[in-house]
Amino acid sequence: MHVYTNRPEISAAVAKHKKNGSKIGFVPTMGALHRGHASLFNFASKNCDIVVVSVFVNPTQFNNPKDLETYPRDLQGDLEFLESTNPELLVFAPSTTTIYGSKVESINYSFDGLNQVMEGAFRPGHFEGVATVLKHLFEIVNPDFAFFGEKDYQQLQIINKLVAIEALSVKIIGCPISRHKDGLAESSRNKRLTKDQRDASPFIYKTLMQAKELFNDQTVDEVQKFVVHQFKDNMHLELEYFEIANASTLTHASTKKESEKYRAFIAVFAGEVRLIDNIALN
Ligand code: PAJ
Repeated sequence: MHVYTNRPEISAAVAKHKKNGSKIGFVPTMGALHRGHASLFNFASKNCDIVVVSVFVNPTQFNNPKDLETYPRDLQGDLEFLESTNPELLVFAPSTTTIYGSKVESINYSFDGLNQVMEGAFRPGHFEGVATVLKHLFEIVNPDFAFFGEKDYQQLQIINKLVAIEALSVKIIGCPISRHKDGLAESSRNKRLTKDQRDASPFIYKTLMQAKELFNDQTVDEVQKFVVHQFKDNMHLELEYFEIANASTLTHASTKKESEKYRAFIAVFAGEVRLIDNIALN
């Protein structure tokens, strides 16, 4: 497995493969890799000739400096995980200076309100940071396809917008959420849960599935009230938000229209660990 740390080398390696007619897939990550990430590498490998995985903890997307400080970093462990998943992968693990030079700053993007709601409202500046690092990474790697998880559905929509704004040639592919057997979405944060919190956490997906069922014949308001009520007396999980939104504009769905696609989004605190999940409703 090749591991690249600087721009010219990864760019040259990709250019060489492209010249030979290979289709390049790209999976950007922040490391702390788990099976959810692996589902993306595997999907990318099935659909592309060469797959590049980046491992970079992007400082500009952390609105809370403590989160950036405590974000799990284990490059050696990640490289072993990547090697065991697929030794053919090309890995790009740059430093902050390689990506940002001396100015570790976000570009000011306007995403037609997509970044104002839900995760954007609770984590100001987060999506500008995500978009900025991806703009840099796309320029360096120059992939044909890039793969992102629906686990971060709002991020996926914003990346589609970024590609339109910057007129990038990369095609964005959304991949399904990979879950533990009990339904909890895979996440690097799950490791930080206590046993009680971990045991309590499948409730999040269970509630999303109940919400989906209710959405068939209840109003958005009724479903919303149901979910809030479900979490009211939960000892381990505190609801931050539950939102039913239009799946493409992410605006709050006040009424249901047959022709529109809707999705439910949830953020929950288990102690200090913040967990997010979402589900297609129709
Ligand atoms: P990270 O949280 O490491 O996630 C990398 C990719 O893995 C994202 O596309 C995310 O949606 C996907 N992913 C995580 N858990 C998943 C799961 N359970 N099922 C399916 N996909 C899952 O998202 C980021 O990093 C960063 O914001 C990044 C895009 C790399 C920019 O810095």
